[in-house]
Amino acid sequence: MMRRSHFPLSWLILFSFAVALLTSQSFAGIPVSLKSSADNTVCIGCHDNPKLKKELADGTAILLHVDSETLAHSVHSGRTCTDCHTDIKEIPHRHAIERVNCSRCHYVEEIEGVRMPKKPAEYRESVHRAALAAGNQKAPTCQNCHGSHDIVLASDPKSPVHRENVPQTCGACHIDIYSDYRESIHGRALEEGNRDVPVCTDCHGEHSIKSPKNPASSVYATNVPGTCSRCHASERLEEKYKLPKHRVETYRESYHGIANKFGSLTVANCASCHRAHDIRPSSDPKSSVHKANLPRTCGKCHKGANQNFARGKIHVIITRKEESLLYYVSNGFKWLTILTMTALVGHITLDLAAKYRKRRGEH
Ligand code: HEC
Ligand code: HEC
Ligand code: HEC
Ligand code: HEC
Ligand code: HEC
Ligand code: HEC
Ligand code: HEC
Ligand code: HEC
Ligand code: HEC
Repeated sequence: MMRRSHFPLSWLILFSFAVALLTSQSFAGIPVSLKSSADNTVCIGCHDNPKLKKELADGTAILLHVDSETLAHSVHSGRTCTDCHTDIKEIPHRHAIERVNCSRCHYVEEIEGVRMPKKPAEYRESVHRAALAAGNQKAPTCQNCHGSHDIVLASDPKSPVHRENVPQTCGACHIDIYSDYRESIHGRALEEGNRDVPVCTDCHGEHSIKSPKNPASSVYATNVPGTCSRCHASERLEEKYKLPKHRVETYRESYHGIANKFGSLTVANCASCHRAHDIRPSSDPKSSVHKANLPRTCGKCHKGANQNFARGKIHVIITRKEESLLYYVSNGFKWLTILTMTALVGHITLDLAAKYRKRRGEH
């Protein structure tokens, strides 16, 4: 910076502070306490310099320019700089500034009369938080998804968490999945402006995201059918997009569907056949459920599945007896459950009755 012929006043101030700092170990800066966002000028005084930057050890630099307008147009327009940068208490401030902790405010019920949305608290239980706690620096904090000074409401198309922008925001880290999703029926429809198709957060949640291996995850094997059903059991959507009907119902009545409901993790759920992200109509030759690809799709689990094996209709309506095997399997399960429950309730009733009689006899 010294090479430049003339430099702004703020640099001069900074320079004098720096000299003061170097010459005196015990130098204490001027205490700052920002009472309202109007006082942000104290910080802006230096940080509105577009050239202000900090060289990092690896030779790269981060820009330290903060446009006061950006914050003023964000949801945090009423905040002071030190509301978020809480460890800055004097000027000049120390060098290693802590990362901003959004949770400080966003886990409370309300701030100065403004009610806080409750949802971010779910982040605590998420796979991302767990990964971060385990030392994975690539896992997202609030600011990775939301930004910092430029945070606007999710309903604003400029927000990185606005519905249409969610796949890109998640995709910045989950690149392969993003590219599969973009090519899928859901992803392509989204790009064409369809608002009925799912983005990442419809299937995964936003703050509560969990590993598919976690039974509490919306994409855990036994929860997948419920997650797809939110839309695919809807007659309105079936009509609107001329989708083949009864896909969910027929799955639920199939061998796979029933066993899945009973907690089997090995039978097929919707995503085992359709895939999770690269979902395509069966007419698309790249679809995992295109006729030509079915032997491979079923073959993941049914060793030696050939065209013949896969030919049996999948989404069949099995209230009719013609689909005999499936019909009996599904009815078998139904009756087995009913009989077991009846026997259990009967047993408990008899047991209670016996105990009751015994007690009365003793008194
Ligand atoms: C006298 C000029 C000056 C003032 C006033 C000033 N800063 Fe800074 N700020 C700097 C400089 C220079 C750096 C780079 C420091 C370094 O290289 O570590 C910086 C860095 C920062 C950083 C980034 C730190 C990091 O390590 O990434 C934050 C955040 C910050 N300032 C916030 C504030 C806030 C909030 C205020 C108001 C309370 C403020 N600054 C006031 C000059 C200033
Ligand atoms: C809503 C909280 C919030 C407020 C208010 C806020 N900041 Fe920040 N600031 C952040 C976050 C988040 C970062 C990104 C780094 C991090 O996560 O700590 C950041 C980063 C910075 C940086 C480092 C450069 C960068 O962009 O990464 C500077 C400098 C800075 N802030 C200055 C300011 C100044 C000056 C103000 C007041 C005008 C201010 N901040 C108000 C949240 C805030
Ligand atoms: C000092 C407390 C404070 C901190 C720290 C803070 N916020 Fe906020 N945040 C608020 C307040 C207050 C509002 C409500 C503003 C309003 O509606 O006037 C808000 C609003 C929001 C909203 C919009 C919510 C809505 O529905 O109105 C989002 C998103 C948000 N903050 C994200 C963040 C993120 C991400 C961080 C960290 C970078 C952060 N906040 C840090 C106080 C804070
Ligand atoms: C993995 C990405 C991700 C992370 C990490 C994340 N969020 Fe969010 N957040 C979202 C998405 C996506 C939405 C939008 C939900 C919607 O459309 O209603 C959202 C919504 C919000 C809202 C409501 C915004 C509004 O305008 O209604 C607040 C407040 C919020 N987040 C705060 C936080 C805080 C605080 C953290 C950290 C504890 C955090 N978020 C972490 C993705 C994330
Ligand atoms: C800043 C990078 C980043 C962003 C943004 C991000 N993630 Fe992640 N995500 C990670 C990392 C890192 C992991 C942990 C991977 C691990 O532990 O194997 C992870 C884990 C996951 C997992 C669990 C994977 C598993 O196999 O257990 C899911 C699901 C997930 N993220 C979905 C999302 C969604 C949906 C979004 C957007 C709302 C998102 N992520 C945004 C980095 C990110
Ligand atoms: C239609 C619902 C749906 C949508 C939309 C969706 N996912 Fe998934 N996702 C799933 C299912 C189901 C699984 C579990 C798949 C499995 O177990 O093989 C999964 C698994 C994952 C995993 C962990 C397993 C892996 O393959 O690494 C990550 C990470 C993930 N999704 C991220 C994303 C991201 C990022 C997006 C948006 C670009 C997204 N998902 C969109 C349903 C969805
Ligand atoms: C948020 C609602 C929603 C969710 C959740 C959802 N879908 Fe979809 N899906 C749609 C819509 C809407 C279409 C029609 C898109 C179009 O044709 O433009 C569609 C299309 C499809 C198609 C192609 C149908 C055809 O013939 O064109 C398949 C296959 C499909 N989805 C499977 C799934 C699976 C499997 C899941 C769960 C892992 C799932 N979907 C979750 C809304 C959803
Ligand atoms: C055992 C594999 C398998 C499972 C499990 C499965 N499907 Fe399918 N699905 C198929 C096949 C094969 C087709 C194409 C032929 C047909 O329609 O029967 C198909 C067709 C569809 C279609 C129409 C798309 C088209 O282009 O033909 C939708 C929508 C659909 N399935 C949704 C679902 C949903 C939702 C679930 C879970 C509730 C599910 N499927 C479970 C194999 C499966
Ligand atoms: C994720 C693994 C998985 C996939 C993919 C899968 N299945 Fe299954 N399926 C099973 C399991 C496990 C059973 C339980 C019986 C067994 O072990 O064979 C089963 C049972 C069945 C049954 C009834 C019992 C029987 O053996 O006759 C039929 C029919 C069936 N599958 C057809 C298919 C077809 C057709 C496909 C491809 C469109 C397919 N499955 C894809 C795991 C899968």
